[in-house]
Amino acid sequence: MLVRLASETDLAGFRQEARALLARGVPPSEVVWAAESGQDDLFAEDVPAPAGEPRAAAVTVSVPAAFLELCNTVVLHIDPQRFALLYRLLWRLAREPGLRHDPLDADMLQARQLAQSVRRDIHKMHAFVRFRTVADDDPSGEPLHVAWFEPEHHIVEANAPWFKRRFANMRWAILTPRRCVAWDRRELHFLPGAGRDAAPPPDAGEQLWLTYYQSIFNPARLKLRMMQQEMPRKYWRNLPEAQLIAPLAAQAQERSGRMLEAPATIPLKRIPLFAAVPQAPAGPGLPALNEAMQACRACPLGATATQAVPGEGPLQPGLMFVGEQPGDQEDLRGRPFVGPAGQLLDRAFTQAGIARQEIFVTNAVRHFSFELRGKRRIHKTPQQQEADACRHWLEHEIAQVQPRALVALGATAARALLGRAVPVLKERGTWHARGDGLQVLVTLHPSALLRMPSEQLPAAFDAFVGDLRRAAAGPAPVAG
Ligand code: URA
Repeated sequence: MLVRLASETDLAGFRQEARALLARGVPPSEVVWAAESGQDDLFAEDVPAPAGEPRAAAVTVSVPAAFLELCNTVVLHIDPQRFALLYRLLWRLAREPGLRHDPLDADMLQARQLAQSVRRDIHKMHAFVRFRTVADDDPSGEPLHVAWFEPEHHIVEANAPWFKRRFANMRWAILTPRRCVAWDRRELHFLPGAGRDAAPPPDAGEQLWLTYYQSIFNPARLKLRMMQQEMPRKYWRNLPEAQLIAPLAAQAQERSGRMLEAPATIPLKRIPLFAAVPQAPAGPGLPALNEAMQACRACPLGATATQAVPGEGPLQPGLMFVGEQPGDQEDLRGRPFVGPAGQLLDRAFTQAGIARQEIFVTNAVRHFSFELRGKRRIHKTPQQQEADACRHWLEHEIAQVQPRALVALGATAARALLGRAVPVLKERGTWHARGDGLQVLVTLHPSALLRMPSEQLPAAFDAFVGDLRRAAAGPAPVAG
């Protein structure tokens, strides 16, 4: 008996047909399963009812939830025999009560292996999709991000919601040979497969990404074998950074030698400990404010940092960007966002069309919070009391600078600006009003990008740039 399913991943159809076949007692050896591969053809014909009497006793089968979970994943496998395997298992589950507890059963083992291979493919798609920006004529003016990917299995539809959640604010399309998916910021659209030539060529952002990849590559941490396990060679041809791996690996030993020889960073000066918390000056002027904050000891951070780091930029800017706290470089130089996170932020500004000299950049916390590891000062997230103690400096700064809108980089800044704990991943890319009417756009902190596995970085960087573009476009005018 030939049973045709509407599509390669038609689990609902499979369940319905399998239930009917089991009820009629049709043994697995008499069923041939065929899935439509023309993804847009809707399955038209019903399975014809079998002639004659059932050949085995009809049974209904109730299966454990874990088996349904397994079916969900196995149907995504490329193996044409997957439906036959699942039907055989259903048939046997109804007749062999011990089967569900037999860890060594060959059919069960095979199903688990198929599921494992699908899960690995799903994970690789999360990690190795690389978007390129395409300018189209969309009325929103937002660029379209297009990626080419070659999954092993039928995972595009199952994986689409993950990309939708992750890149909710971007317009994007992922092209694959068997199925394509596009997100227009409202709904997902599934389309037939595409050819590789439909994918856009390398763009300017990609060169930026390559330069960036080169600059964050840490030779002391290179583990080539692990890297190849995580990033198998078959994915390399679609990964722009793969071309850098061999040359960077070749220089790794020499570069890590140089890193070991370089002196550790040492604070330039210590500020004597004051007990008093200075008042922010009532009069105008950032210089007075900045001078006053140097003496702040409202929390312990001021005693160990080199200096308080004030914000910088023009007065009455379109945007004021608020980070978490100065890092090692910022603490030494007394300027915000001049270290690695600042460099990444500058790249994102450039790509989003934001001129740094036209915006104000500052931090929620004024002193560097760190712990010592040997001679190195390692960033430590400031405690809530420390951020609270610093909040009045930020508010005075906002009052002096008078930005048209604010951007919170990360959770500490978002909390300082909005006065509540903000789930950044959920609320990123959107505007939130403060009590004083100022609007705040929330996005990730650039250091969060620096901490990401390198394979996730390009897409995350694109999404970050998307948030900055939204910030640059400004909040929607308030009605009335
Ligand atoms: N991280 C921040 O939040 N601010 C800086 O100034 C530097 C790194």
